[in-house]
Amino acid sequence: MGMATTTTLAASRLLLFVRLVVAVPFAVGLAGGSQLDPQQLLALRALGLAAHPSGEPCEAGGAVAASCDAGVPFRRVTSLALTNCSDTTSVSAAALEALAPSLRTLAFLDCPAAPPRLLPPEQLAAGLWYFSCTASLRRLSTVWLSRLANLTDLTVTDTPLATGSPSELAVVISHMDHLTRLTLSNANLSGFLPHHWHCPNLTRLDLSRNRIAGSIPDTITLLAGITHLNLSSNALTGHIPAYIGDLISLTAVDLSNNSLSGGIPETVSTLPELEVLNLGSNRLNGSIPPFLSEMMGLKELNLENNDFDGMLPFSARFLSRLRVFRAAGNSKLCYNRSVLAEEVAVGVAPCDKYGFPVTAPPAATAQSEKGTADHDDDGDADGGDDARGGRPSAVVLGLGIGLSCLAFVVILLVCLCKVCR
Ligand SMILES: *[C@@H]1O[C@H](CO)[C@@H](O)[C@H](O)[C@H]1NC(C)=O
Ligand SMILES: *[C@@H]1O[C@H](CO)[C@@H](O)[C@H](O)[C@H]1NC(C)=O
Ligand SMILES: *[C@@H]1O[C@H](CO)[C@@H](O)[C@H](O)[C@H]1NC(C)=O
Ligand SMILES: *[C@@H]1O[C@H](CO)[C@@H](O)[C@H](O)[C@H]1NC(C)=O
Ligand SMILES: *[C@@H]1O[C@H](CO)[C@@H](O)[C@H](O)[C@H]1NC(C)=O
Ligand SMILES: *[C@@H]1O[C@H](CO)[C@@H](O)[C@H](O)[C@H]1NC(C)=O
Ligand SMILES: *[C@@H]1O[C@H](CO)[C@@H](O)[C@H](O)[C@H]1NC(C)=O
Ligand SMILES: *[C@@H]1O[C@H](CO)[C@@H](O)[C@H](O)[C@H]1NC(C)=O
Repeated sequence: MGMATTTTLAASRLLLFVRLVVAVPFAVGLAGGSQLDPQQLLALRALGLAAHPSGEPCEAGGAVAASCDAGVPFRRVTSLALTNCSDTTSVSAAALEALAPSLRTLAFLDCPAAPPRLLPPEQLAAGLWYFSCTASLRRLSTVWLSRLANLTDLTVTDTPLATGSPSELAVVISHMDHLTRLTLSNANLSGFLPHHWHCPNLTRLDLSRNRIAGSIPDTITLLAGITHLNLSSNALTGHIPAYIGDLISLTAVDLSNNSLSGGIPETVSTLPELEVLNLGSNRLNGSIPPFLSEMMGLKELNLENNDFDGMLPFSARFLSRLRVFRAAGNSKLCYNRSVLAEEVAVGVAPCDKYGFPVTAPPAATAQSEKGTADHDDDGDADGGDDARGGRPSAVVLGLGIGLSCLAFVVILLVCLCKVCR
């Protein structure tokens, strides 16, 4: 959802840019009576542009939205977005050929058209800066995509990349040196993360919801200017590399829903801009490092469904500053009742006086918490002791009965033996 919004934002920004660039010369173009290139008009019709009464397809909204430059004698299409098109639409090689010389932006949204079959025309490969395909084209050829070598923005979401070979990701981006944003999300990517990155200007990388396996290579540090890293919902294993601390522009890191293990590296504390840290649903363990509460920019912290232990090292003040805090689903984690209220440490068990979680069923914990709420005014620590009071005595009672039974059995056996002799 978030990424989709970002993408749309990026698209609208680009469109705005294109319009701004076009706007001033356009006035001149109008004065000169410049019309759309007839070949390109045909191409737009072939792609489903409804005949327009004014005969002016540029700046038109609707299913086929185009922006044009102010060329003379003919204007040419610079930006094209196909939305919600019928599944009889097809992106023909001829249409792309006609649009190629001028096209900078090409976007498909909810457009289940037949995908382009041949390789993209050379002029398109060289000229296209922005390509976006969301739930469109049924499937997309990796080779076709990889030819768009001058892209700065590439988004493929909810659209499978065709071959499913393990090196798909590397193939797609191997020639795209100018990328600043790359999103390949829910695109049927498998294989591993590449060890080499050729795009020094990349700021956003979203490879979420694929089947990428293996560990996060240390060479991720080649992405020196990256601000958003989203590798969520893949099959990544191994540790979070300590080198992540070198990526000092990071504002959002989402590694959730993988199989990462080990602890949170100390180097995370050196990320001055970090606002979002989502490590939920992994196999991370060890204690939660206190330095997180010193990261002044942090707004979202998700540590849920891991194997963290010990006491939550956070103050109520720190947690109130966060927009999102999640730590439930860590059975060995607990919070200090004299430091935090239950409403803040949602889903985390309170600690006993030794710093271990009070292991009662959640319902019982909630009840004892409410039951002691009255006492809490007098002193939190006392309230906590009262709540725990009943449970150890029950354990002692159980243990007593067990031991008595054992003793009885032993005596019985001894007696039986004597009788047998
Ligand atoms: C990462 O991607 C997932 C799924 O595509 C999305 O739900 C999540 O919001 C993204 N995380 C961030 C920090 O943008
Ligand atoms: C998509 O097209 C269908 C019919 O062609 C229409 O009912 C629907 O409202 C359209 N959706 C959007 C988001 O434009
Ligand atoms: C990228 O664009 C430049 C000029 O903008 C052009 O010279 C170059 O050939 C293009 N690259 C490719 C691989 O087409
Ligand atoms: C997804 O990838 C797998 C191989 O990893 C392949 O068998 C499958 O056909 C691909 N799915 C689509 C829809 O292309
Ligand atoms: C990276 O960005 C800088 C500044 O915008 C630009 O000069 C440089 O050519 C870009 N590098 C690549 C590989 O696109
Ligand atoms: C977690 O990832 C699996 C596949 O690896 C996916 O099926 C599931 O929907 C993801 N869960 C969430 C909450 O994103
Ligand atoms: C984390 O788990 C690994 C593997 O299970 C174990 O070797 C390691 O000691 C654990 N670390 C901590 C701090 O508990
Ligand atoms: C909980 O916090 C209080 C006050 O900071 C402290 O005195 C106490 O030792 C802590 N409890 C545990 C089990 O560490």
